Amino acid sequence: MSNFVQLTMNGAGPGLCLTCGSLRHCFITLYLLSDYPAKLTVHTSEGALMSPDKSRDQDLRRFSEMRALVTGGAGFIGSHLTERLVDAGAKVLVIDDMSNGVQQNLSAVKDRITLRRGSIVDTALARSAVKEHEPEIVFHLAARNLVMSIKDAREDAAVTIIGLLNLLDAIRQTDRTETFVHSSTGSVYGEPVESPQTEKHSRTPTSPYGISKMAAEDYLRVWNKLYGTQYVALRYYNVYGPRQSANESTGGGVIPVFANRLLAGQPLTVDGTGKQQRCFTYVSDVVKANLLAALNRKCWCDFYNIATTERIDVLSLAKLMMEVSGVKTPIKFGPERPGDIMRFDPSIELAARRMGYAPEVSLRDGLAFYFEWLRSTRKQ
Ligand SMILES: NC(=O)c1ccc[n+]([C@@H]2O[C@H](COP(=O)([O-])OP(=O)(O)OC[C@H]3O[C@@H](n4cnc5c(N)ncnc54)[C@H](O)[C@@H]3O)[C@@H](O)[C@H]2O)c1
Repeated sequence: MSNFVQLTMNGAGPGLCLTCGSLRHCFITLYLLSDYPAKLTVHTSEGALMSPDKSRDQDLRRFSEMRALVTGGAGFIGSHLTERLVDAGAKVLVIDDMSNGVQQNLSAVKDRITLRRGSIVDTALARSAVKEHEPEIVFHLAARNLVMSIKDAREDAAVTIIGLLNLLDAIRQTDRTETFVHSSTGSVYGEPVESPQTEKHSRTPTSPYGISKMAAEDYLRVWNKLYGTQYVALRYYNVYGPRQSANESTGGGVIPVFANRLLAGQPLTVDGTGKQQRCFTYVSDVVKANLLAALNRKCWCDFYNIATTERIDVLSLAKLMMEVSGVKTPIKFGPERPGDIMRFDPSIELAARRMGYAPEVSLRDGLAFYFEWLRSTRKQ
C-alpha cells in the first residue's frame, strides 16, 4: 500500500499530482508547486498513512482489503476513483470496454488492480466478473455521455439500463455486495423550474442520456423495494480535471476543449449564447463523494446532488480560463448544442448533511491545477 504525507501550504486544495495527473501524489509535485497555495499529498515509501487529517485517513482505512468493483474505471472519473481505492488498500476490479477509457489512465495502479476489458451489456461478463470478485462495494460509472447518447440513443440505453440490470442481477446472485454507488447526473432534472434544485425537483430530462440515467435511478429505487438492494445515487455536475476527454466530437467536456484550444493558440467556440449557467466540480470532490457515500450507511437508498456552490456561465468561464492560463485567443459563437440545459443550480445541502460532503476545490484553483497538468503532459 502507498503512503501519504499531507502538507498544507497557505490554504486548501485538491492534493493532485500535476506530473502524473493522479489524485495520488508524487514528490516532484512538491517541488513543482512549492509556492502554490494548495494542500498537497505526496508519495512516500511503503507503510502507514500519515496525515494531519486523521479523521479522513481513518475513514479511508475502512477500504483496506475491501473488494471493490469499479465499472468505467479506465475513464476520467473512474480512474481517479480507482487510484484512491487502491491507495486505501482496496482490492479493485475494473470493468471497462475502453469505448471512452484508456489503459494509460490506470498506469499508476496497473499492477495492483484486475482489469476486465469488456462491456457490462454482456450479461455473462458482468455475471462472471461479479461472481469471481465478490465485490463488497460496486462503484458504477460506465456510461455513454450526453453527446454520444444523441448520436446513438439505443447504445446509450443499452449501457445505462441493460448494463445496470446485468450488474444488479449479478450482485443479487452472489449476495456479497453491501452497497451500489451509482453515478447519475444533474441532467436527470432537465431545465430547472425551481432554484436551487434540491433532489426533490421534478425530473424532465432533455436528452437520451438524461432519460436513461433517470430510468437507472428508478430501477435502483425499485430494486431496493423488491430485493432490498442497497444503493446510493450521486448526481454529478460538470466534472472536470486531468484525463477528461477533450475530443469535441465524442462529447469532451467544455473545460478540456477550451484548455487545449487555448494552449494551441486557437479561438474558443462558445455554443449558443454562452449564458448557460454551470456548476463545475473538480474531480477530486466527486471521488470524495463516492468514498463518503460508500462508507456512510445513513445516506444509502437515496439520491444526492454532488456539485459545488460556485456558478459561472460558459462565456465567463472562457474569460476566466484565459486569465488563469495567461493565454488569450478570440471567442467565436457557434450553434446551440442539442439537449443542452441552460441553467444548473443544484443544492448540495442534503449531501452535506447526510454524508458530510463539502467541495474543497474552487474553480480558479481547479483550473490552475488542470492547466499545470495539461502543460506537463503536452511537454512529454
Ligand atoms: N464528467 C461529467 O461531467 C459527468 C457529469 C455527470 C455524470 N457523470 C457520470 O459519471 C460517470 C463517469 O463519467 P466520466 O466523465 O468519467 O466519463 P468517461 O467516458 O471518461 O468514463 C466512462 C467509462 O465507461 C466506459 N464504458 C462505457 N460503456 C461501457 C460499457 N458498456 N461497459 C464497460 N465500460 C463502459 C468507458 O470506456 C469509459 O472508460 C458516467 O456514469 C457519467 O454519466 C459524469
